[in-house]
Amino acid sequence: MSGSEPTTAAGWLAKAEAFLAEKGVPEASVNAEFLLAEALGVGRGQAKAEGTRTLTRKETLRFWETVKSRGRRIPLAYVLGWQPFAGCRIEVDDSVLIPRPETEELVELAAREAESLGRPVHIVDVGTGSGCVAIALARRLPDAVVYATDVSSSALRLAESNAMANHVSRRVKVLKEDLFKPHSGAPWADVAVSNPPYIPSAEVDRLEPEVLKEPRLALDGGKDGLLHLRAIAGDAKRLVKPGGRVLLEFGAGQAADVRALLVKGGLSAVRIVKDAQGMDRFAAATV
Ligand SMILES: C[S@@+](CC[C@H](N)C(=O)[O-])C[C@H]1O[C@@H](n2cnc3c(N)ncnc32)[C@H](O)[C@@H]1O
Repeated sequence: MSGSEPTTAAGWLAKAEAFLAEKGVPEASVNAEFLLAEALGVGRGQAKAEGTRTLTRKETLRFWETVKSRGRRIPLAYVLGWQPFAGCRIEVDDSVLIPRPETEELVELAAREAESLGRPVHIVDVGTGSGCVAIALARRLPDAVVYATDVSSSALRLAESNAMANHVSRRVKVLKEDLFKPHSGAPWADVAVSNPPYIPSAEVDRLEPEVLKEPRLALDGGKDGLLHLRAIAGDAKRLVKPGGRVLLEFGAGQAADVRALLVKGGLSAVRIVKDAQGMDRFAAATV
């Protein structure tokens, strides 16, 4: 903090907005509002409404610490330490991808497919990260048991603690598994869902500074971006029981390739589903 310091909430908000804008943070004012709300322990609307209130020294210090972090282009969710997702509060740190809004649509798609089977299901969430998909599915489907897998031990620790905080730890089991190792034994899952890394390696370095703070392990889908999607599609019949469902999220321009991978993997009724923005974003198939 330097120069003449504001005293009121509105003054600090304006100062933070100018600081963040200067650092190139997109939507600087919205970011400043979220950070002030967190520092005051209130909702974003209320933070704005407290404009004339004088901030305490403690509130000011707490607020400005987070503003400085955001100015270093650390994503808002990492600065706050959490992200809302499908009605759940999901804690995040830089060991996991920040849950994206479109992935809430993957949850809804998987839930509807699971319900269409007409029985309590065993679901596997491949590459669970923060656990957001597994947890949201467990909350949406009270009879389901969800296995949340990842290769990252730190992600699995966070997923487990998120499952506890969202009261589904009895039905969300975290497992360390590498999706590149083909499954052995009989297929056991009714539904497999995954939002795997799918960005082509060469594109990762060109991403926004905020995205580059997320783990490369969660972003990099190999040379053509399809490395993980290819492995999941190829292993689906070893993992999912006959008649079960596979739901995948993928990136821009990958729909035709993902469809072909699922067909090659021996799956049927393959369909591509658009997201709310009208982009081909998900694939659904029957094993
Ligand atoms: C795009 S992130 C998705 C995280 C979360 N499911 C979500 O939707 O926000 C992909 C996840 O796949 C995990 N992953 C990467 N390689 C993997 C592998 N070989 N086996 C299992 N998981 C892997 C990463 O650690 C990361 O958590």
